Amino acid sequence: MLSASRPINMAHMRNELLKKYGGPVPRYTSYPTAPQMTSDIDGDVVLQWVSELPNDEPISLYCHIPFCDSLCWFCGCHTKVTNRAENSDGPVSRYVALMEQELLTLAAAASKGANNPPSTARIHWGGGSPTILTPDLITRLSAAIDNAFPIAEGRVFSVEIDPRGVDLDRMEALAAAGVNRISIGVQDFDPAVQTAINRRQSFDETERVVSGMRERGVESINIDLIYGLPFQTSGTIDATIDQVMRLAPDRISLFGYAHVPWMKKHQALIDTDTLPDQENRAIMATQAAKLLCKAGYEQIGIDHFALPKDRLVALRDTGQLRRNFQGYTDDPTKTLLGCGVSAISRFSSGLAQNETELPAYRRHVLAGEPPIARGCRTNKHDRLRAAIIEKLMCNFAVDLRQILNDMNSDSKEIEADIDRLSPLVRDGLVTLSEGLILSITDLGRPYTRQVAACFDEYLPRAKGRHSMTV
Ligand SMILES: C[S@@+](CC[C@H](N)C(=O)[O-])C[C@H]1O[C@@H](n2cnc3c(N)ncnc32)[C@H](O)[C@@H]1O
Ligand code: SF4
Repeated sequence: MLSASRPINMAHMRNELLKKYGGPVPRYTSYPTAPQMTSDIDGDVVLQWVSELPNDEPISLYCHIPFCDSLCWFCGCHTKVTNRAENSDGPVSRYVALMEQELLTLAAAASKGANNPPSTARIHWGGGSPTILTPDLITRLSAAIDNAFPIAEGRVFSVEIDPRGVDLDRMEALAAAGVNRISIGVQDFDPAVQTAINRRQSFDETERVVSGMRERGVESINIDLIYGLPFQTSGTIDATIDQVMRLAPDRISLFGYAHVPWMKKHQALIDTDTLPDQENRAIMATQAAKLLCKAGYEQIGIDHFALPKDRLVALRDTGQLRRNFQGYTDDPTKTLLGCGVSAISRFSSGLAQNETELPAYRRHVLAGEPPIARGCRTNKHDRLRAAIIEKLMCNFAVDLRQILNDMNSDSKEIEADIDRLSPLVRDGLVTLSEGLILSITDLGRPYTRQVAACFDEYLPRAKGRHSMTV
């Protein structure tokens, strides 16, 4: 009798947990999180931070291309639709000219006179859709980066790719620029789901870009998938994963759809009645993870998967996995310089975000100043919390005593945080040993962001407006 009733009780318990802990919290790709940024941080502060960068320590550079050919209705990225600018004076080429100028301003500040600025160990182009750039513009932007900053040995150059409309010339230009890692948006191959999100993308055109870039030397391919989209079911997820397996990507990101129409107005075009409910989202997430693991992928953190030979797996196994604005990463650098509209930079002293609107961005760039809109300084307390949150998000466990020791902090510092963990301990989501080793249990894994949130000093504990945890 007991064994017959157990599955029912487990299902009931999981639903109760979902109701209690499935609410909105940040994704913790940084700490402090974006809402902590204010106009106290401006271009002058960032010039100072850039000028303090050690010249011999490689950095990462993120370039944001805020344009797409058409708008996917689920999209939460900072982008807008524009006509492809094949001519030399379209909005995209004018934007690239501004980025060239911004890169020069940053490099001049980092050079400190006769010295070279730091080299770039990582470059990432995100968006929007960087492949809206014409082949000429791809070449121009990569040359501008390499003129501004020396190239570190073994540099990883990654680009986010919307395969629709990526022709051979664009693939050639990306490869010639040194791109050696790509991330391709798929989301779901099901036609009904694609219609409901306004993104029609065939398997064949996706495969064409995957093999085209492999033939041109790209060694690492990531594919983005989303669960929780309109009309998605366990069946569509199954079928999509089947097709994705034929592409044999090295990595897969599996994000929960963040429906935030109060921030992204176009998401209101998605009929909420067609969205799976929270319980079905959780079922899809679990099922997708099971299928990927069965296919030989290893789970990395809360939403990534990688083949066993991928560096992310080794880093996970040795506790060295990192998390940044792009998600889980093997990027070892301390400094990230953001370039382009809305890009965020990370320095040891704080975070800074560029202007999110093009006119304001242009005004600053043409005046020769970093186009900063907001930011925040980080102090010792923030750095302690950032380290704890990153460990939890990457390893599902953290040795709190060790981190307190490493950062010369006292356990009093996290007394309130430990109190906030009590209900999660009672509900079996985490364990906390006397030696202050905090571990997230299998039951608690879907609520990792909620566990991390216990260490977020700034999170309003009242009803939040972030995306759902699961
Ligand atoms: C900049 S886009 C990728 C590049 C390219 N524009 C494309 O769509 O193929 C980055 C990724 O963010 C994810 N994403 C965008 N909006 C999202 C949302 N509302 N919820 C969850 N993931 C989202 C998608 O998986 C998307 O592939
Ligand atoms: S998902 Fe990609 S292609 Fe679609 S609107 Fe967003 S950035 Fe553009």
